[in-house]
Amino acid sequence: MHPLLPVMRAGLDPHADLVRMRRDRPVAAFPMLGLPKAWLVTRHEHVRRVLGDPRTFGNDLALARDLPATITAGRWRPGGLGFYDPPGHTRRRRLLAPAFRPRAIRGMTTRIEAIVDEQLDRLAHAGGPVELVRALAEPVAARVVGELVGVADADVLATGGGRFDISGELGMPLAAIVRSVSHLAELVRRQREGRRAGLLGRLIDEHGDHLADHELVGLADGLLTGGLDTTASMIATGVLVLLGDDDLAAAARAGGGPLDGVVDELLRYVCVAQLAFPRFARTGVVLAGRRIEAGEAVFCSLPTANRDPALGAGMDAVDPHRGPTPHLAFGFGTHRCLGAPLARLEMRIVFSALLRRFPGLRLAVPVERVGFRRFSIIHGVESLPVTW
Ligand code: HEM
Repeated sequence: MHPLLPVMRAGLDPHADLVRMRRDRPVAAFPMLGLPKAWLVTRHEHVRRVLGDPRTFGNDLALARDLPATITAGRWRPGGLGFYDPPGHTRRRRLLAPAFRPRAIRGMTTRIEAIVDEQLDRLAHAGGPVELVRALAEPVAARVVGELVGVADADVLATGGGRFDISGELGMPLAAIVRSVSHLAELVRRQREGRRAGLLGRLIDEHGDHLADHELVGLADGLLTGGLDTTASMIATGVLVLLGDDDLAAAARAGGGPLDGVVDELLRYVCVAQLAFPRFARTGVVLAGRRIEAGEAVFCSLPTANRDPALGAGMDAVDPHRGPTPHLAFGFGTHRCLGAPLARLEMRIVFSALLRRFPGLRLAVPVERVGFRRFSIIHGVESLPVTW
């Protein structure tokens, strides 16, 4: 079995070997990323159990047994919420939460619409064919999360590159973290001394005396990493699915409730986040008959969980009429994605505006030629050439 199987796909479908594991060995020993004792969990029921039980499964790397030297020796520090347990997690999440309350997110609607319209104007001006990842998905996601955090979109893009690519094990992600942390440290320093903007500026204003620079950097890094690649990938792959299904595209164009159904179903079906943050067993525990010892790592496969036949019939198809499913595209439990409402809003605005503005939008290459990322924790298309 390929050592990076948990991040391999068949187009937008889960890899056949993972589907077989879900059926035959739903909790399987699967050493990866240099962790000699690690487990892979593929069924919805067990993924939900792991993510929803922080007393048994923690996120703090200090819980891990036998961390590889690449992690322990490195000059890097993961600062995002996903690597903390309570009370540190609770304290940090509370600092960020006000910016993600429903009212705050609703308040971003007009600004996101303006950003999307500007990007669509540029598309119209350029004329087809265009490559939609670079011309729409990435700039929209980067500008929105940049304005939220209070950094320029160029800075957002500078922190991204290679973060989720594990084709060379952890080399690329760790190098990307080191690059991002030093870039953000400079931005934090500038905001402390000069003009303040966005959530970062507000955190400095309100908590700057007791929040160290490295904490601010970690929080900003977690938001930028969490909000850029995920959302850009969902926009681009979502458009790919919409262009292949006229009814789905019509529902997206209609807006309102039908559009909500489309967005939710695309999140479940495409499921760009292939793995939740790693969890580490705090004590010995039995899951699906397998004994996991304290300190062993547990990786949860979200695409296989989201397509689990236990959720109902036909989970391998996109059906916006099936009603809400308990899908895990945003994770589950105390670490569930903080940015979920923002991501949904961005997807809603982009899909409806794009399809209304360009009713004749279609792929500019045969669908078989659309290439997918390989070995990336965040799945997506490499590029999406379209025309109209
Ligand atoms: C479609 C887009 C997105 C997807 C699919 C997604 C998915 C996820 C997933 C799977 C997790 C991990 C949950 C776990 O391990 O239990 C997560 C965590 C997180 N996401 Fe997102 N995300 C998206 C967009 C965003 C955006 C736009 C932001 C912020 C601007 C964001 C910020 C975060 C943060 C801060 C966490 C850590 C939460 C915690 O540990 O408490 N995400 N996301």
